[in-house]
Parts: sequence; structure tokens; C-alpha cells
Amino acid sequence: MSIKTAVVNGVATIEIARPEKKNALTQAMYEAMAHALGQAQADGSVRAVLITGQPGIFTSGNDIEDFMQRPPQDIDSPVFRFMQALVGCDKPVVAAVTGAAIGIGTTLLLHCDFVYVSDEARLAMPFVSLGLVPEFASSLLVPELMGARRAAEKLLLGDPFTPEQAVECGIANAVLPAAEVVNHARRVAERFNALPPGAVRDSKRLIHGPRRERIMQVIAEEATVFGQRLRSPEAMEAFQAFFQKRQPDFSQFS
Ligand code: COA
Repeated sequence: MSIKTAVVNGVATIEIARPEKKNALTQAMYEAMAHALGQAQADGSVRAVLITGQPGIFTSGNDIEDFMQRPPQDIDSPVFRFMQALVGCDKPVVAAVTGAAIGIGTTLLLHCDFVYVSDEARLAMPFVSLGLVPEFASSLLVPELMGARRAAEKLLLGDPFTPEQAVECGIANAVLPAAEVVNHARRVAERFNALPPGAVRDSKRLIHGPRRERIMQVIAEEATVFGQRLRSPEAMEAFQAFFQKRQPDFSQFS
């Protein structure tokens, strides 16, 4: 199983564990994560959720072979059920970014309450380089967080950014030494054991509630274009180039 889950000391941990493919996320893995978030939401003994990866890699984003073979069909696909579960989670979600966080590896962080990044991590949203468009409401949230100029660097050029830059532009709370990031994130999640769960839940609803509908609307709008882009010749060239370990050639497109 490439998603490991456990509930220990009030914290539901969702661990992405497919290191041989750099933790690339398949439809089955999104399904497992959506299910785990649903269980965490329903389990009264869970006070917070921790999302983490493997040493050196958080996730390389959507599995590119899955993109080619099994593109998400509609808003009911596992990836969208995962997005909905994360956006709608009333319990605090803490992310421990253990290494590279690419594509949805970065955009999912926009929906976590606390984000701690390893000093060895790199973040990137290279959607355009893959012939795709921003997803998970990043077209709305990234410009809001860091302004249009820096958002253009990250979303149009797909420029990678350092953990320090992630903190500076508001995506992450703090940078931790690689060996400490998971334990630090877990300690933050465990602090909710000492806080009143009803007040935490109501506060999270007040902070995010009014925005959730708008965010889900943007996710759906992005998904329509994303679905079309997945089938585009530009995306096919990018995906094939990735597996052939070469640079893509977009010179024939206009
Ligand atoms: N989908 C499918 N397979 C992936 C993958 C992905 N997103 N990311 C990595 N893999 C696979 C590679 O194909 C390779 O498989 P192989 O051993 O069968 O050849 C294996 O994982 C190791 O990846 P590799 O690229 O050799 O590791 P690296 O350490 O040199 O680079 C990354 C790591 C994460 C920087 C690089 O794999 C990468 O850029 N991945 C794609 C990121 C991406 O564009 N994601 C989609 C965003 S929408």
C-alpha cells in the first residue's frame, strides 16, 4: 500500500509511501487519502491530521503515467474527492514537507493549516511546462498569497522555490532540518490534544467556511480546462519527454 495511515496519540497520520516512484500519486492513492481524511473527520479521538512523505521526497505530484492512461474523468474522480476532503476538513491539518513537493505536492499545502518544510525540500508547480494549467485553486490562492508578479514566476514559468522562499511568500510556517521536520510537525499536531476540540472545529469553520464554496467552484473551473489540457498534444509531448528523459519540444505548436 502506498498510503500508510495510523492514528496515534490523537493524530491521524497520512504518509505517502511510494519512494520508488518519488511518491507520485495515483488515483488509488488519492482515493486512500480521501478515505483517511473522511475517517479522521468522523473519529472523535482524532484531534489533528498530519500529512507527510518519505525522507527526501514529499511527493512528485500526480503520477504522469496515470495522467496518460487514466485521466480524471469528472469532478467525482478520486483526485477531486481528495481535494474536497482536504478543503472541507474541520480538523487542523499539519503538513511535514520531507523533500521535493511538485505539482499537487505544493498546491495541497495551500489547504493545510500548518506547513513545515525540510531544509532540503524544493517546491514547484510546473503545470504549464507539462502542457497543463494550475489546479487545486492555486490559480486563485497563489496570486492572493504572493501577489501577481511572483505568482507568474511560480505558475507560468514553473520556477522552483526554496523552503525559505516558501516561508517568505506565506505557503509555509517554518523551515526545519530534514531530520526534525516530521517530529516538529507531529508535536504541533499533538498540541491539539490539549485544546478544546469544539472550539478548534468552530474556529476552523469560521476561518475557512465562507471561502470553501468559492474554492470548490474554482477547483471545478480549473478541472474543466485541466481535463482538456490532459488530452492536448502539448501535454502528450511533455509526458512522453518525461518518460524518455529528454527535454520537451514545443516548437511545432502555435
Ligand atoms: N509520475 C510518474 N513517475 C514518476 C513521477 C511522476 N510524477 N516522478 C518520478 N517518477 C518516476 C520516474 O519516472 C522514475 O521511474 P523509473 O525509475 O522507472 O525510471 C522514478 O520515479 C525516479 O524518478 P527520477 O526522475 O529518476 O528521480 P530524480 O531524483 O532524478 O528526480 C523529481 C525527482 C521529483 C525531481 C523528478 O522525478 C520529477 O521531476 N518528477 C516529475 C514531477 C512532475 O512533473 N510532476 C507532475 C506535476 S503536475
